[in-house]
Amino acid sequence: MEQWTCILTSIPKPGIGVIQLNRPQVLNALSLQTMIEIVEAMEQFERSADIRCIVIHGNEKAFAAGADIKEMSGAGSMEMLERDQFARWERIRAIKKPIIGAISGFALGGGCELAMNCDMLIASETAQFGQPEINIGVMPGAGGTQRLTRAIGKVRAMEIALTGRMISAREAWRAGLINKVVPVESYVQEAIALASEIAGKAPLAVKLIKESVLKSFSTTLEGGLELERKNFYLLFASEDQKEGMNAFIEKRKPMWKNK
Ligand code: CAA
Repeated sequence: MEQWTCILTSIPKPGIGVIQLNRPQVLNALSLQTMIEIVEAMEQFERSADIRCIVIHGNEKAFAAGADIKEMSGAGSMEMLERDQFARWERIRAIKKPIIGAISGFALGGGCELAMNCDMLIASETAQFGQPEINIGVMPGAGGTQRLTRAIGKVRAMEIALTGRMISAREAWRAGLINKVVPVESYVQEAIALASEIAGKAPLAVKLIKESVLKSFSTTLEGGLELERKNFYLLFASEDQKEGMNAFIEKRKPMWKNK
């Protein structure tokens, strides 16, 4: 594994690649280098045949308190355009393996946007989500206005982005932003347990389910249903479909081959 400066990576259990943001002194603010490393670590896990699921987390106090304000405060428009640091997030969209975010403490601005780039979210009781860019004279720039609106609806997204107010883990759960709220002692383990459960499923089906669900954000119902149907039929070309159905009929556990 490469030497990172802003993150840590590990494989705590077979099949699970973990990324930990590691700039605690600035509440894991997302510097340019942090963003580069997150995307590169995800792509390494994506390429690894041994990894089935990715988990990303920060520490108890902060998942990430947003883009690094000190790094961008003096920049001009053209410099920001040239850096185009948030465009890098787009590469996360190309990751086919499920990504589970384990969130504790602050998930603000770019931190909330990074969380929303994950496929599922487990949060500790102390997690706080928000888009506070309005308080520093700007606006969400890495998907906040789009993903938050799709996740929790227009009026709630408007309130969060226009007031900069944070919402608690419970509010986020009630609004449908996150999957589960758990005690702070166990939020990472819960995310790893969820990742392990998914890692035990047929890998090709996992991949095509993720692709099909994500497609619903960028296509019509008709286009999405068509993709879903074709992906369903496509899985009948896999050995794992035969294995899964035969195992059911023979009343035994399937042995997946990722083929
Ligand atoms: N960038 C750079 N440094 C940050 C940071 C950020 N986003 N957030 C916190 N820090 C630093 C603080 O400057 C401080 O450093 P020093 O000790 O050197 O002063 C350290 O982290 C600890 O922070 P605080 O002392 O402020 O901690 P707190 O517990 O009192 O407050 C907080 C926590 C409410 C999260 C507060 O730090 C805060 O409001 N942070 C900024 C949140 C924000 O505005 N995020 C949006 C950034 S813009 C963005 O993300 C754009 C986008 O869409 C991609």
